[in-house]
Amino acid sequence: MIRHTSYAVEPWSLRERGLHLDVLPQSESVFALSNGHVGWRGNLDEGEPHGLPGSYLGGVHEIHPLPYAEAGYGYPESGQTIINITNGKIIRLLVDDEPFDLRYGRLRSHERVLDLRAGLLTRTCEWTSPAGSTVRVRSTRLVSFTQRAIAAVDYEVEAVGGPARVVVQSELVANEQLPSRDGDPRAAVVLDSPLEAEEHFAKNGRLRLVHRTRRSGLRVGAAADHVVEGPEPTTTESEATGDLARLTVASVLAPGERLRVRKFVSHGWSGTRSLPAVSDQVDAALAAASSVGWSGLVAEQRAYLDAFWARADVEVDGDEQIQQAVRFALFHVLQAGARAEQRAIPAKGLTGSGYDGHAFWDTEMFVLPLLTYTSPGAVSEALRWRHNTLPAARERAVQLGLSGAAFPWRTIEGSEGSAYWPAGTAAFHVNAGIADAVVRYTAATGDTRFERDAGVELLVETARLWRSLGHHDHHGAFHIDGVTGPDEYSAVADDNTYTNLMARANLLAAADAVERYPRRAQELGVDDEESAAWRDAAEAMHVPYNHELGVHEQHAGFTRYQRWDFAATRPDQYPLMLHFPYFDLYRKQVIKQADLVLAMYTCAPFFDAEHKARNFAYYEPLTVRDSSLSACCQAVLAAEAGHLGLAYDYLHDAALMDLEDLEHNTRDGLHIASLAGTWMALVAGFGGLRHHGAQIAFAPRLPERLGRLAFTLELLGRRLRVDIGRTAATYTVVAGEPLTIRHHGEPLTLDPDKPAGRGIPPVSPRPAPEQPPHRRPNHQGGTEG
Ligand code: BGC
Repeated sequence: MIRHTSYAVEPWSLRERGLHLDVLPQSESVFALSNGHVGWRGNLDEGEPHGLPGSYLGGVHEIHPLPYAEAGYGYPESGQTIINITNGKIIRLLVDDEPFDLRYGRLRSHERVLDLRAGLLTRTCEWTSPAGSTVRVRSTRLVSFTQRAIAAVDYEVEAVGGPARVVVQSELVANEQLPSRDGDPRAAVVLDSPLEAEEHFAKNGRLRLVHRTRRSGLRVGAAADHVVEGPEPTTTESEATGDLARLTVASVLAPGERLRVRKFVSHGWSGTRSLPAVSDQVDAALAAASSVGWSGLVAEQRAYLDAFWARADVEVDGDEQIQQAVRFALFHVLQAGARAEQRAIPAKGLTGSGYDGHAFWDTEMFVLPLLTYTSPGAVSEALRWRHNTLPAARERAVQLGLSGAAFPWRTIEGSEGSAYWPAGTAAFHVNAGIADAVVRYTAATGDTRFERDAGVELLVETARLWRSLGHHDHHGAFHIDGVTGPDEYSAVADDNTYTNLMARANLLAAADAVERYPRRAQELGVDDEESAAWRDAAEAMHVPYNHELGVHEQHAGFTRYQRWDFAATRPDQYPLMLHFPYFDLYRKQVIKQADLVLAMYTCAPFFDAEHKARNFAYYEPLTVRDSSLSACCQAVLAAEAGHLGLAYDYLHDAALMDLEDLEHNTRDGLHIASLAGTWMALVAGFGGLRHHGAQIAFAPRLPERLGRLAFTLELLGRRLRVDIGRTAATYTVVAGEPLTIRHHGEPLTLDPDKPAGRGIPPVSPRPAPEQPPHRRPNHQGGTEG
């Protein structure tokens, strides 16, 4: 979409000039504001036209039956879906008796700007009504990072060229009607009127609605308060019914005169608290916001983001589009996780209802790595959410006849929500992803309190799962059969290399953790025999290998399968899952998304450089990138294998997934994992960051098109600045104690505030790998390095 000429490339903002209804649903996603708890899509203030109205609260969902044509043991009986909470964004305007509706009259100018440093979405427009009255409308919206329950709007209308009688209706609307879904399984189930009214209140500009979800039994409250400034006489009236609370402000504006309505909105929910308690909760949040006022909220937002950018900014010289995209990505990933606080971080964040608002392995493997090095507090919260859901994961393991915990493939509240078991239940690798995130977080922060409270137990319970899921064969080798790896075009396969290597790391990490925390181990019932069994399984872990081809197999027997007939597949038949039966995809060599290639990044020390290059060359022509999670992984390995131009092109595909709507479903919400993947492609790809155990290694190397890449990481209480040029890289510990890292394999001890520069060795050229026809990266600007 943002190929649309109306979108400007700017380093610190996303600007849309004009209003283009053809990309309105996508613009609602890219302009979404969230703090990880409250999410407001970038819908127009007046509510219509809209693509998908969206107001969400992390964790608020409804449950619905999952129907099966043929029942089976262990199938989840109910699904969870994110629902729209009360919409607090709506501010309707009437100009001389005509609704301010941009589909009518004449829109003279319209501009929206998402300011990534200020954390504000600003809209400015000038409109002439069908009857000829002209008004200028300015609105600025924020979802507060500092006050978790709060969103606010500063709305101003000005009469232009002549007087105007204006009426502003500021509303809270529940059970807003939603467009119906279009048959794409990645969109959400729409539930009509999921909220039952429990309480409504309106007095002197203070509004409140409290509802309850019908089946999940969650109580959801919203309250609003207003500050109105207008010429005399400006009148106000407040009213409320079950699903609507409204403040109506009426005024007559002389040319140049303005009416300003500042709206403060609080959202809250609870699965346990009483009606008065939830009412009080939203009122109290509102009182806190009102006490600092609009300018206070704006100042707090700025200060919060200043601190974020100081520890997280990535600078890119030589590609303005990537510079904008990486900041856009960092901002949205922060929005997804900042204040989620022991709730799931969904695949779409709180930017849309795609994937029903479910969280997947995306969180631990894509989103948390970025947050670990830039906002570690959000990571411990996200992992504590997993920890809180251990009872459901243990129950699921029992149901499946397994030990330990089986975390769900997709969920909002912790129980399995996938109705398609070959891609859901069998994708056990999500458990190793959680363990990996625990290990990375503790290695990057040294947060022993988290480790003791939650980390060890997560490692132990997932290790138990692997031990019970796999088995030793008569030669002693350990196999994990019948699982689905990251590539969803293979399923229920034996010895998926990614899964086995991640499980191996999980088993070893658990065995190490119980040695460090013997008391905790005792509480969890781990004895020496159990942890020895974990080490045995890890050491005997089978990794399938094709000796003839000299490559690792994605899973046992994969390289023997027939190759997919790529030549006969038309460009419009992608994504393949919407045009071919899974049956056929599963028995051919065709890869939806990086799998073995991802293993070479996440389990990097297992593979030598030669195998990394050879495996990459083998799997690249089979990988169709039908998942947004693929391009960033391919970027990282392409860079490591020396294909810098290709890595650069994949970086573009990850970075512009939403800004250019590459998968044609940005309307349903942003691809948070791919946004995080932008950071991964830059920092792990061109920066070469690998963090395994105590070793922090960089192997920087830039593609021809980039002149410089600089980023900052929070590591063990230090702030490390990495500045990479074409021929040398400079490392500086800008805060904290000395730190030892590796630069292209060579150890380097960094003293605080003493930049250390090192040269970048040249890359050894290799033949460029092929991609399947029509599946080369969308971007073709990298010059092969
Ligand atoms: C991918 C999964 C991913 C999910 C949510 C699917 O298309 O294959 O790996 O977890 O999308 O992003």
